[in-house]
Amino acid sequence: MRYKAQAPSNIALIKYMGKLDFEKNIPTNSSLSFSLPHFVTEVALEVIDEPVDCWNPLIKPGFLKPELSDKGQQRFLNYFSKLKEHYNVSRNFQIQSASNFSSDCGLASSASSFAALTKCADTAFRELGYEPKDETPLNVWSRQGSGSSCRSFFEPWALWTGEEAHSIALPFPDMNHEIVFLDAKKKEVSSGDAHRRVFTSPLMAERPQRAEQRLNQLIESLISRNWTRSYEIVKAEFEDMHELFETSTPAFTYRTQQSRDVVSWMDRYWQSHGDGPLVTMDAGPNIHLLFRADQFRLQRNMMNQIKDLFLK
Ligand code: DP6
Repeated sequence: MRYKAQAPSNIALIKYMGKLDFEKNIPTNSSLSFSLPHFVTEVALEVIDEPVDCWNPLIKPGFLKPELSDKGQQRFLNYFSKLKEHYNVSRNFQIQSASNFSSDCGLASSASSFAALTKCADTAFRELGYEPKDETPLNVWSRQGSGSSCRSFFEPWALWTGEEAHSIALPFPDMNHEIVFLDAKKKEVSSGDAHRRVFTSPLMAERPQRAEQRLNQLIESLISRNWTRSYEIVKAEFEDMHELFETSTPAFTYRTQQSRDVVSWMDRYWQSHGDGPLVTMDAGPNIHLLFRADQFRLQRNMMNQIKDLFLK
């Protein structure tokens, strides 16, 4: 029998960066994300007659053949064995996974991967007759595999604080997401390492207060449908995270000249049009844009201009 599950990726507008507990992935501050249902990971599980679990790529039309490093595979398998322990599962499995977007380039593929693995394992184990030791919510399990994955259980908006994540009712549930895809190179510093290194930045001491304050301001501005203010807060937030990276020891950066150019262009666009998308960057050089549903014309025109200017 083969079991399958899918989970979406998500993009944080208030970022998870820095952990209070590295074992359990307890964040130093709350984060707020918007789910990306067009970016999904699928996981398939099958019982095997082998002495250990194994991981293999899932080959599926429309999905990319994943290249999971040995370290990445081990991380996935270690997490899976913790899940097995929790359900008291004695059998071994082949895990297969693939995403329909490129991983390791600043799009949270670990978020959708760990969420899909957790969902799939829960379904498979229960159908095979195993029950968990307690009814800890799946997002809480998933968070211990990869922090940002706990937000992938909630759509469209997810709020994660400490050990708890939930959906939050906010306006603009149908925003359209675009990526200005500047660079698909593997990251030199993984987001896992970034979570450790930011503690060497002098800006980290006040970071939790800044993030919590911005979270409240963003929720307020979204609720009052103040789109311009939301743009300003979201921009200040991703720049804050990138400044943490750039002031760490040793310093590192994901921003390229091109990403800086696109962000400045966006600013000028906003200034001249009085409107535009929300703009954010994750731990990578690519730029994420979120458009209101009614901005479809602006979105099309902007994406054409960006193609001409930056993606030749
Ligand atoms: C920059 O969830 O990948 O995307 O818990 O170590 O797996 P681990 O980290 P991860 O961190 C994501 C960080 C981020 C910002 C965010 O998604 O909030």
